[in-house]
Amino acid sequence: MPISVVIGSQWGDEGKGKIVDLLSQEVDIVARYQGGANAGHTICWGDKTFVLHLVPSGIFHEGVTCVIGNGVVIDPKAVLDEIRMITDLGYDVQGRLLISHNAHLIMPYHKALDQARERYRDAEAIGTTGRGIGPAYMDKFARTGIRVVDLLDRDVLRAKITRAVEEKNAMLTGIYGAEGVDVDAIIEEYVEFDKFIDPFVTDTTQYLNQELKAGKHILAEGAQGSLLDVDFGTYPYVTSSHPTVGGCCTGLGVPPTEIKRVIGIVKAYCTRVGNGPFVTELNDEMGERLRQVGHEFGATTGRPRRTGWLDLVALRYTSMINGLTDYAITKLDVLTGLDEIKVCTHYRYNGTLHERFPSEVQTLEKVEPVYETLPGWKEDITGCERFEDLPVEAREYLQFMVRHTGVDISMVSTGPKREQTILSERERLLVTA
Ligand code: GDP
Ligand code: IMO
Ligand code: MG
Repeated sequence: MPISVVIGSQWGDEGKGKIVDLLSQEVDIVARYQGGANAGHTICWGDKTFVLHLVPSGIFHEGVTCVIGNGVVIDPKAVLDEIRMITDLGYDVQGRLLISHNAHLIMPYHKALDQARERYRDAEAIGTTGRGIGPAYMDKFARTGIRVVDLLDRDVLRAKITRAVEEKNAMLTGIYGAEGVDVDAIIEEYVEFDKFIDPFVTDTTQYLNQELKAGKHILAEGAQGSLLDVDFGTYPYVTSSHPTVGGCCTGLGVPPTEIKRVIGIVKAYCTRVGNGPFVTELNDEMGERLRQVGHEFGATTGRPRRTGWLDLVALRYTSMINGLTDYAITKLDVLTGLDEIKVCTHYRYNGTLHERFPSEVQTLEKVEPVYETLPGWKEDITGCERFEDLPVEAREYLQFMVRHTGVDISMVSTGPKREQTILSERERLLVTA
């Protein structure tokens, strides 16, 4: 059995958590491959709502094993809180949650540096989540990071942390005028953490490859979105990892030849948290309406999300770089009640029309969106079980997306709950190019 990957096709918060939870019913393993507790993946069923930051969104399915891969940066406090929350809900995670021994740890100085650097940058801040993600990946690539496996040898751990703290405190106090951190307090905290997570730690790469050989189906859960990718996103207003499909191979240690399906999660409009270009942004009443009706407030930081119309130029680009095989469209219900819906099909730059997404911010900040206006619908669609039950205007909206991107639609989400989803029946896609 192959690997399926779930990818955020925009700037994150597309509803990956919901779709991964739903698809977990059909898979054996769900694996996170990048990012850290900057992610906030919401899962709803019945009257319950949970937000997961590090633990894969398959954890509420007893038969599913969840893996936190080597590409993830792990905040001990976040993972402990989450394991406790899941256990308190009555779910047993022992033997079902595996953490890579090669994953890097987020240290207190990473969070302190992330926040201090953002304050220092002031008007040029990225608008990070403040979870230490950038500084942790910096240490990983500078080869000075601390990995889960380092917790095993207390002497090595002390030596590494002492060296790191010397350098980080010089930066925190000397450059950013912030408070330094204390070596002994960190060591004490991380030794406690080690005792707690020891039973979960393993060589997840060996495990995943062995399970692939045994015919198991893996669902790889991307965090963030393709436009936040450190290479392909709107740099420097990006995160420090690869949410795009390549991140799945390096972040789990699985071969690309095993990937058979790449599902792009697409919100029916766009949102972005943090700074950076957003061509279709709406700073008006319509933007506010999308925010209120769509409850567009960050699942991790609570920040109001910026909102705008669907951007097909950006979507064509993220479909291309990920080789998306199909789309899961989310939050279509949020558009219900609008007289008209705009969709950006091209950008205008220097008087000419552009079909392609320029990922360098210098150009992106200057382009103007070119819209087509489609008719809206008034009927409540949250209970729709079949594609044919959607109002004709809603179906045309989806068909328009497919026509302009060439990617089929396999799922349509019409509400936050698991059951509020229109699925393809017997592998028949809902809308085809
Ligand atoms: P993720 O980071 O991609 O997992 O997405 P988030 O959980 O951060 O944000 C998506 C939000 O939209 C969550 O509050 C979900 O419960 C909610 N949501 C997901 N799908 C739908 C949908 O189809 N309709 C509505 N109204 N809400 C949805
Ligand atoms: P999920 O997985 C939306 C954004 C931050 C900021 C930029 C860099 O829930 O979709 P970072 O803390 O990663 O260094 O911040 O990336 N960002 C997200 N935006 N959803 C996320 O995750 C995000 N994770 C990071 O707002 O603009
Ligand atoms: Mg989110």
